[in-house]
Amino acid sequence: MNPGRIVLAGGSGFVGKGLMTEFLGAGHEVVVLSRSGSRESEVRFVAWDGKRVGAWAEELEGAAAIVNLAGRSVDCVWDEQNRREIRDSRVDATRAIGRALNACVDPPPVWINASAIGYYGDTGSHEVSEASPAGSGFLAETCREWEAAVDEFPSPVRKVRLRIGVVLGRGSGILEKLGRMTRLFLGGSAGRGTQFVSWIHLRDLLRLTEWAIETHNVAGPVNATAPNPVPNAVLMAELRRAMRRPWSPPAPALAVRIGAKLMGTEPTLALASQRVVPQIALAHDFPFEFPTLRAALADLV
Ligand SMILES: NC(=O)c1ccc[n+]([C@@H]2O[C@H](COP(=O)([O-])OP(=O)(O)OC[C@H]3O[C@@H](n4cnc5c(N)ncnc54)[C@H](OP(=O)(O)O)[C@@H]3O)[C@@H](O)[C@H]2O)c1
Repeated sequence: MNPGRIVLAGGSGFVGKGLMTEFLGAGHEVVVLSRSGSRESEVRFVAWDGKRVGAWAEELEGAAAIVNLAGRSVDCVWDEQNRREIRDSRVDATRAIGRALNACVDPPPVWINASAIGYYGDTGSHEVSEASPAGSGFLAETCREWEAAVDEFPSPVRKVRLRIGVVLGRGSGILEKLGRMTRLFLGGSAGRGTQFVSWIHLRDLLRLTEWAIETHNVAGPVNATAPNPVPNAVLMAELRRAMRRPWSPPAPALAVRIGAKLMGTEPTLALASQRVVPQIALAHDFPFEFPTLRAALADLV
């Protein structure tokens, strides 16, 4: 792909920072749409409110790609207000981009919009792929509306909805939290431990995003997960192994619920099961650098 301008909406966060580095390294100009102003020197921060079309929309004219990552973190207590913010921040930001693209004279050829594997709901041990229907529950409903917003406005832009799994990377909230607990000998499995965790190494997520931008015949939903999801008990055992910690007692679901409350987060994030396969990436022979959890943790821990 020839160097061009890449617009990163919500690009100031964990995944966005990784993409910034990748895109700058490939010679692209990076513009970040942010609600809170400039930080990095090599990229241009342009103000937006994540809701309405504004002067920022000019950045889309002639751009090489738009990647939208905006959304309030789900790592919080899901009370009514937070649920509203989690949903609205995603749907409103996506709609604003759709509306802006629709009015573009020279729109970018491709729009990558984040979504999440929460789309599938709790899948138990049943394997799901991009062809599977949406599940039920708050996250599934949010993801369904988030994705529907991508298609709300007609535009000639190729649209890819990246259903992102649990991202493991240095500085990722989940790995820091689990790592801290494991270090304190609290790295037992959560609940029954049989619930599946569909994870992806940050490096593979960044590469998959670039691949989706460059692969002209890819459109629609793409699962951004490693090909080998694991049960929670295996995740915790591999983490203990990587951190050289002995066996730790499992935490029953009630303890997870109490712990989540104390940590100000939502227990569903640890207790729900999602067994997701990246069917489209595999069908295109996307070369995962970290297909197994052991390899990913060896790199990260
Ligand atoms: N990390 C994961 O494991 C994971 C898993 C599945 C899906 N995803 C999805 O991938 C996307 C990127 O993830 P991430 O880990 O990079 O998230 P992040 O670190 O929380 O960054 C998200 C960005 O969204 C913007 N934002 C926050 N609240 C907002 C609001 N109310 N309205 C508009 N924008 C808001 C923020 O940018 P400003 O403050 O600069 O505006 C923030 O930097 C998110 O949509 C997330 O749901 C991530």
